[in-house]
Order: sequence, then structure tokens, then C-alpha cells
Amino acid sequence: MSNVVIVGTQWGDEGKGKIVDLFSDKFDIVARYQGGHNAGHTVTVQGKKYILHLIPSGIVHPGKVCVIGNGVVVDPAALLYEIETLKGLEISVEARLFISNRAHMIMPYHRAMEAGEETARADRALGTTARGIGPCYEDKMGRRGIRMGDIFNEELLAAKIRENVKLKNSLLKEIYGREPLDAEATLLEYRFLCERIKPFIVDTAEYLNREIKRGKRILFEGAQGTLLDVDHGTYPYVTASNATAGGACTGTGVGPTSIHGVVGIAKAYTTRVGAGPFPTELNDSIGEQIRVKGVEFGASTGRPRRCGWFDAVVVRYSSLINNVDTLVITKLDVLDGLEEIRICTGYAIDGKRLEGFPTDIETLERCRPIYESHPGWMEDTSSVNKYSTLPQTARRYLERLSHLIEADISIISTGPERTETIMPEEDSKLSKLL
Ligand code: IMP
Repeated sequence: MSNVVIVGTQWGDEGKGKIVDLFSDKFDIVARYQGGHNAGHTVTVQGKKYILHLIPSGIVHPGKVCVIGNGVVVDPAALLYEIETLKGLEISVEARLFISNRAHMIMPYHRAMEAGEETARADRALGTTARGIGPCYEDKMGRRGIRMGDIFNEELLAAKIRENVKLKNSLLKEIYGREPLDAEATLLEYRFLCERIKPFIVDTAEYLNREIKRGKRILFEGAQGTLLDVDHGTYPYVTASNATAGGACTGTGVGPTSIHGVVGIAKAYTTRVGAGPFPTELNDSIGEQIRVKGVEFGASTGRPRRCGWFDAVVVRYSSLINNVDTLVITKLDVLDGLEEIRICTGYAIDGKRLEGFPTDIETLERCRPIYESHPGWMEDTSSVNKYSTLPQTARRYLERLSHLIEADISIISTGPERTETIMPEEDSKLSKLL
């Protein structure tokens, strides 16, 4: 009975939502293990588009249980908004959504601190989603965070909010020259919000392990991508959590031996939102063409995504860090109509080829991509769902990617709908995992 992790192999937005949705039928529970409402997973079912930020995309499947693990940071207002939106779409979350009592809560002062810090960074700003994610994780590590379980203890919650607001107000005033927050107003607001969230809070680590013992299958849903991982990504231009597969264990309390496979998701090209190095970025009409055709605008913030060629160095590195078993390539159809398609096969610094992926951004910023040129295809591949009907040049492109990354490609996505997918062969590694 396999439990599987879905992980992004680039800078996020690889199309994980569609793949989680596609796999959900095979699993009983979908669990998020990190990040917060900075993520945006778009799922399209029968022409209806759902954008989920916090609740795992498995929720659109009736009967599936969704878990928000301890590694996730939860903004109560954002969560309630999402629950209400789902209800409006006639998707009920009652008895199907569980939130960890160990998950940390995003507070108004986290957003205020983030705004102050981003402004202070000036031209070194990270370009965060401004959701308070980073400061919430800072408080978690600083051992002053407020956890979901704390809302059951009125006195403790009040004391923690007052203490934190006091500390943050002095920082906001002294360091960032910002307006202080009102602790009592925050307390009132959170008491009200949390009352409605209480029914969803449980010990999800205990729940997940019990369900595994009962033979239930879990799909672990990663948010963001490997290059945004706080340890393995392009630090400091990263998010504040472990988006890599290892995060599934620490972010849910399920041990590594209970996880049997890792599926890496990569777009047929590369995108990035926010600041930071991006070696294959295209600041030209091709980049613009990809952005428009691929509708490359942030699902959470609406910001235009930076677009570029496929970077095989990045995905090979991600494949290694996550121990990816098999790859899914998404949005192949976005490359339709390009005469030439390039793949970055390596980096050069001062004319010398570099081995591996640099650990520091100063080096990465100096890297020049080494490109291989491939003929494109003029045919329309959108909605193609059979490998043999893809244009030969598209098949060659995919085979080259697989060779460069040293991983097999088991699914190719050619459009947002479930039906617009080339599914794995019966005897593929992925079919065995599923
Ligand atoms: P934060 O996660 O809001 O702290 O932002 C840190 C960096 O991660 C910024 O560059 C964001 O644009 C990026 N980021 C956060 N979440 C996502 C996502 O879901 N997709 C793509 N980029 C993201």
C-alpha cells in the first residue's frame, strides 16, 4: 500500500494541483505538509476552475479526507474564506478536513513585520507573497509561535497574543517606523475566527499514522517547489519552509519508512515569481509568448510570472534532492508553435563548465546557461492524450529531458482538464506506485 509525495522540482507553480487531483482517486487522504496560503493550486473539473491556497486540492473529490499538517502555517481568516468558497461550490468539508493542533497560526503582526522587512530590504526585497508566511515560521523557530491547539485554552491564547503583540509593536515602531497593533482587537478577532475552526482541529500525526496502520493510502501534497525550499533552494530568495519531499515527514509526523515514492512535477519550461536568480529567464518576446499562452500569472497574488527555457540543471538537482522516482511534465502544449526550443544542459562561469547546482546565489547569478537547440513543432498538442500522437519533435524533446534529468517521464499534461493528460503505461514505475 503505497503512500506518495508530490513535489515541485522548479520554483513552484509546476501544476501540482492538477496532478494531485488526478491521483486523488487512488488515495484515501491528501495531506499538505508545509507552506500556507502563499500557495495557489488550480484545479479544473468539467470546465469549473477551483483555486485552492490552503486546503489540499483533493477536497474537490467527494469522500476524500484532507489534512493540513503540522508543518503548514494557517491564517484563520484565509482558511474560513476557503471553506465558505468551497461550500458555495457545493463542496462540503465537514468531517473531511482535519487541521493539525501543532500547526502554527498566522497573526496580523506577521503581515505587518513582513511589510516592514520587505520595505527595509529595498532593492534586495524577496518579492514575497506578503501573507505573513516567513515571520510566522520565524516565530515557530523562535519558540514564541501560537499553535492551533492553543485556541482551546483561552488564557494561554490571550497571554500569547498580548506578549507577541507587545514584542512586535516595539520592533515595528523602533526598527520599521510602523504603526503599532492593538492586542485586544487582535484577541477579539481571533477568538471569533477560531471558534469556527475548532471543530477541524485534531492531532493529525496520530490520525495519519492510525489510518496508515488501517491500510489507508496517503498522498502528500507539497506546495511551492524545490528551488524555493529554505534549505535546498536559492537562499535567501526562498520561502520559509521545506518544500522538498523530506518536509512530508516533519510536516505531518509520518516517518520516512511509511512513504514509498516521490513524484516530481516539472513544467515543460521554467517560471518563477518574486525576486532571485533565474539563469534561463527570457526577457524577450518568447518569454512574453510563454507567459500569455501559459497564463503565467500568480494564482495567489496575480503577479506576472517570469518565464524561461527548461533548465535541466535545476530539475536534475531537484530529482537528486527529492530522490524522485518518476517525473510528470506539465504544460507541454504551451510550447506549441515555437520554431526553436532550447534546453539548458549546464552552466558556465568565466567560460568554464560548472558541475552540479551552485549552493550560493552569488555563484548562481554569475552562471551563464549552456543551451542545446531543438526544433519546435507547429502542431497543436493541447488535449493530446496519447504519446504516439504527439509530434515527433515533441517526443524527441521529452526524451531528451528525461535523458538529461536521468529520470523517466510517466505523465505528460497537455491542458488543464483531467482528460488532457497522457497517462502512464501499465507497467511504468508510476503505475506500480499508484
Ligand atoms: P513567501 O512564501 O510569501 O515568503 O515568499 C517567498 C518567495 O516564494 C517569493 O519569491 C514568492 O513569490 C515565492 N512563492 C511563495 N509561494 C509560492 C508559490 O506557491 N508559487 C510560486 N512562488 C511562490
